[in-house]
Amino acid sequence: MAGRLQGKRALVTGAAGALGRVIAETLAAEGADVAGLDLNGAGLEETAGLVRAHGARALSATADLTDFDAVQAAVGGIVAEWGAVDILLNGAGGGAVSFFHEMAPETWQTQLDRNLTSVFNVTRAVLPGMIEQRSGRIVNIASIAAVSGGRLVRGATAYAAAKAGVVGLTKALAIEVAEQGITVNALAPGAQATPGRDNDTPERRAALLDQIPTRLLGEPEHLAQAVVFLAAPEAVNITGLILPLDGGHSI
Ligand SMILES: NC(=O)c1ccc[n+]([C@@H]2O[C@H](COP(=O)([O-])OP(=O)(O)OC[C@H]3O[C@@H](n4cnc5c(N)ncnc54)[C@H](O)[C@@H]3O)[C@@H](O)[C@H]2O)c1
Repeated sequence: MAGRLQGKRALVTGAAGALGRVIAETLAAEGADVAGLDLNGAGLEETAGLVRAHGARALSATADLTDFDAVQAAVGGIVAEWGAVDILLNGAGGGAVSFFHEMAPETWQTQLDRNLTSVFNVTRAVLPGMIEQRSGRIVNIASIAAVSGGRLVRGATAYAAAKAGVVGLTKALAIEVAEQGITVNALAPGAQATPGRDNDTPERRAALLDQIPTRLLGEPEHLAQAVVFLAAPEAVNITGLILPLDGGHSI
């Protein structure tokens, strides 16, 4: 049976990471070809193997997404190979704990570059092709920190500011390209059951769950299904949505 994304060409940034890998594999399971873009070349190859195991085509491109020219070249290579990108998942990013009163300007800038400028760079490289084909799906991974100020993790101001930037970018771009058949949405995950949580002490885990009404961490597979939904044909009229996946934390 054909998957819901049969024949689509997806570009997944952060595809070597915990969430990006599961998303890449899930898109492939739905019939999409998947190009991964990440700093981590060995991790990308692992992800590509999982994509191919579903019978989908895989490409890997290594680039620092904070570098505009490097991203132009990497995306250019993918488009040269496949002709176009139908689905863009901006998943690369990540936080670093730093308290505001002692934060170095470099820390601030690094967080903005990693979590927001990277989204600009990749989307800027992909969007002209989507406009040309008058269709496209963009899904950004923001964070519940953008909405709730990072209550789950103290010391997240720069990360929260960058992810709030992703939320603003998502809504403004959704309006800008709506008439060109392109939708732009964002996920706002709360704490996910990724290896980043493996070092939680029992006390830390209990404190975390106390703030989540469902008392559940998010499952990457569930998040990946939200990406499939937003990328599928049935979501053609959903744009500018910021979808929390946080067990009710942000209510
Ligand atoms: N895991 C969570 O609980 C959680 C919650 C909310 C939001 N998020 C967001 O989801 C996304 C994925 O998180 P994850 O848990 O999979 O993290 P992860 O660290 O496992 O993966 C992130 C990936 O991004 C890549 N990356 C980072 N900076 C890059 C750069 N400059 N250029 C190229 N690649 C770069 C890394 O190499 C890595 O493979 C991130 O944007 C993160 O902020 C995660």
